[in-house]
Amino acid sequence: MPADHAEARASRPEVTPDPAVGSRALASLTSSWSRKGRRWNVSRQRVVRPVPDRCQLAWSPATSSQLRITGRPIAEINLRLLHTVAPSAYSTFVVAPARAALLGYGRIGSLHALTIREHVPSLSVDVVAEPQPSSRAAAAELGYATDRDWRAVIHRPDIDAVLIASATEMHPAQVIAAAAAGKAIFCEKPIASSLAATDAALQAVAQRQVPLQVGFQRRFDPSLTAVRDGITGGHIGRPLLLRISARDPEPPPAWYLRFPGGLYVDSAIHDLDTARYLLGDVAEISSIGAASFDPYAAAAGDIDTAVTLLRFGNGALGALDNCRISASGFDQRIEVHGTAGTVATTNMAAAGATLATASGIRHPRNVDFFTDRYAAAYVNQFTSFAAVVAGGDPQATGADARAAFVLALASEVSRAEHRPIDVAAFTAQLTVPSQHPVAAS
Ligand SMILES: NC(=O)c1ccc[n+]([C@@H]2O[C@H](COP(=O)([O-])OP(=O)(O)OC[C@H]3O[C@@H](n4cnc5c(N)ncnc54)[C@H](O)[C@@H]3O)[C@@H](O)[C@H]2O)c1
Repeated sequence: MPADHAEARASRPEVTPDPAVGSRALASLTSSWSRKGRRWNVSRQRVVRPVPDRCQLAWSPATSSQLRITGRPIAEINLRLLHTVAPSAYSTFVVAPARAALLGYGRIGSLHALTIREHVPSLSVDVVAEPQPSSRAAAAELGYATDRDWRAVIHRPDIDAVLIASATEMHPAQVIAAAAAGKAIFCEKPIASSLAATDAALQAVAQRQVPLQVGFQRRFDPSLTAVRDGITGGHIGRPLLLRISARDPEPPPAWYLRFPGGLYVDSAIHDLDTARYLLGDVAEISSIGAASFDPYAAAAGDIDTAVTLLRFGNGALGALDNCRISASGFDQRIEVHGTAGTVATTNMAAAGATLATASGIRHPRNVDFFTDRYAAAYVNQFTSFAAVVAGGDPQATGADARAAFVLALASEVSRAEHRPIDVAAFTAQLTVPSQHPVAAS
């Protein structure tokens, strides 16, 4: 553990579950809880062992699955008991969520703030740093404390974690500063718009040994989890083929295309990460793409449509298609075909009903966009991040972010140069030698 992070933890004495009775002891902490402001009251039904005043309990997911509060596993709640209010056999604990500073209150930052406030009791956004006065005002209107200076909020001693949802070009500097301040970090994808800047950020994280989770929320999507379970559970035999279709309802506005990234780095990076998450590392990649319908994409030198072929290290093959338009709404489908079966997701339908008549069957259209399709994934992502702040392992790491970013860059090179790319050779060629190798997380 890094010095700063270790000090931050040490200032709140931890009670480590006794291996002999740990799970049983924790399992006895159950039942009624209610929200009072940011605090959670938990009544302890049975005293198994004394809990000192002003203690912090952090559960690993392994032991925490034993503990349930009103039916929700602790892994989702991630309680941190800060001190007992009335020590007795039926003590009430004041439970505080991890406290976070949110950097950036744009499209995704404002969604994250709302998701956390409404659905993630184990995490709270205590301050929003945002340079735009109008966005700061929007955050203030919803009751968030705001600051225009992200450096000031990063260094606040009462802040446990930094959530980076600012424009991509700010990410590396903010990751580096948050790591130096010893904070747990959540960073939106991509970590940076170049591999050198990505590596500089990851090196800072590795040096300070702070936890880092990256915004690949699809890893927390219940449908994707079910696909992965179908594969890892052996239900489809040996995976042979992966197919992902990812089509946005409409292209981004012209101004959005000014920012670094393009279709592969900005959007397909999610699908490239999904591919790795399901079938492991990619050995070879090739892509074709075109600005088929969007004049702004063409003018910006970007593309709006792409087909990308993958050869995985385990021999399986994959095909991704991306498009920036989909008249039926947000189109997100995954299929993995194996020697013993197929596991696949369908699109998420918007509210409505299926109308079946003599002339045919009409279903509701797809949900509009990622905010609806991945609402549950965002909740799970931040619930998981709160567990990371309390000492758990991130499920979407810096190494995952780097690997998907390299695949996005390789896709672009393949498209531009009309050739398949050997991913290992491409990665080696791009990697700037460093004194500090990038850690695996
Ligand atoms: N995981 C996802 O589903 C998802 C979805 C959308 C965007 N993103 C990522 O989130 C990031 C933000 O995207 P967006 O669509 O919300 O963009 P946006 O332009 O709507 O918002 C970015 C915000 O960051 C603010 N900002 C700029 N510089 C800042 C600084 N120095 N400190 C604090 N705030 C600063 C801007 O004023 C703006 O409000 C991008 O990296 C993008 O790739 C991820």
